[in-house]
Amino acid sequence: MTWQNKVALITGASSGIGLETAKRLAREGIAVALVARREDRLVDLSREIQQAGGQATVFAADLADEMERVRVVEGVRSEYGGVDILINNAGFGWFGVMSEMSWPVARQMVRVNVEAVVHLSLLVLPEMVERDGGHIINIGSVAGDMPVPGMALYCATKAFVNALSVAMYRELRGQNVHVSVVKPGPVQTEFFQVAAAQAGRQYVGRVDGVTATDVAELVWHLLNRPHRQAYIAGWLRGLPWLEFFLGRLLDRFGPLMLRTQMRRVRAVQKATGR
Ligand SMILES: NC(=O)c1ccc[n+]([C@@H]2O[C@H](COP(=O)([O-])OP(=O)(O)OC[C@H]3O[C@@H](n4cnc5c(N)ncnc54)[C@H](OP(=O)(O)O)[C@@H]3O)[C@@H](O)[C@H]2O)c1
Repeated sequence: MTWQNKVALITGASSGIGLETAKRLAREGIAVALVARREDRLVDLSREIQQAGGQATVFAADLADEMERVRVVEGVRSEYGGVDILINNAGFGWFGVMSEMSWPVARQMVRVNVEAVVHLSLLVLPEMVERDGGHIINIGSVAGDMPVPGMALYCATKAFVNALSVAMYRELRGQNVHVSVVKPGPVQTEFFQVAAAQAGRQYVGRVDGVTATDVAELVWHLLNRPHRQAYIAGWLRGLPWLEFFLGRLLDRFGPLMLRTQMRRVRAVQKATGR
C-alpha cells in the first residue's frame, strides 16, 4: 500500500516519539493530524512540517476527556475525509510505589494510556474495515511484558495495550487493515522527567536508550511491512522469556532495587530542596 496523500492521526505529537513520528510520516507525503494538550508546541511543529512542504493540522485536546476524542476524530474527518493511520502514542508514567499513588493520577493514566487507545481505535476502525485499508500502531512498552516495581500501574496499562494490539492484529488477519504494537525499552524523551514530576519528584537518572527518531523510523517500517509487534532495541524481544524464567529473581531483588532508587531520589530532593 502506498501511503502518499493518506492521513495519519498522531496522538502525543507535542514531544518525543509522537513529534518525531509526525515529522517522519509528513516527509513521506502523509498529512498529519497532530494531537496533544500543548497547543503552542503543536503549532510550532505544524509550521516546521509545512515549511518542509508537508501537510499538518493541529488538534489541541486532552485525551483523558471522552468528548475531546470524538471532537478530534470528527475534526480530522471534516478536514481530510477520514483517518488512514492512527498512531496511539500519547501516554505517561508515574514513579513510586502504588500505595502512594493518588486516585486522580491513577484515573488520568488509565484514561490516557488505556481508555483513549480503545476509544480512538473504535472511532476509526469501522471505516478502515469498510474501505479495507488502514493501520493502527499502538505504542506499548517492554514494561508491559516485564512488570517492574515502582511503575505498577504504568506497566499494567502497557500490558493492556500490548495484549489488545496483538489480539486485534489476529482478528484482522487476511484484510488490508493492520494493528501493530511497538514495544520500546528506554527512549530518550521527556517521559522520565514527566513521570517523576507527576509524583512530585525530580528525575535523577540518565537515559541510555534509543532516540525518538529511531522509534519513528520503526513506525514507518511497520507501515510498509506490517507485523504484529516490534521491539526497540531489537534485543529486548528476549524480555518475555527473561520474565518467564527469571521473574522470581525480580520478585526477590525488585523491592531492594526500588528501595535503593527511592533513597537516591530522596537524597537528591533533600540536597536540592525540591
Ligand atoms: N520514553 C520511553 O522510555 C518510553 C518507553 C516505552 C514506551 N513509551 C511510550 O511512548 C509514548 C510516548 O512517550 P514519549 O517517550 O515520547 O514521552 P513524552 O515526550 O513525554 O511524550 C508524551 C506525549 O503524550 C502526550 N500526552 C500526555 N497526556 C496527554 C493527554 N491527557 N492528552 C493528550 N496528550 C497527552 C504529551 O503531550 P501534552 O503534554 O502536550 O499533552 C506528549 O506529547 C508513551 O505512550 C509512553 O508510554 C515511552
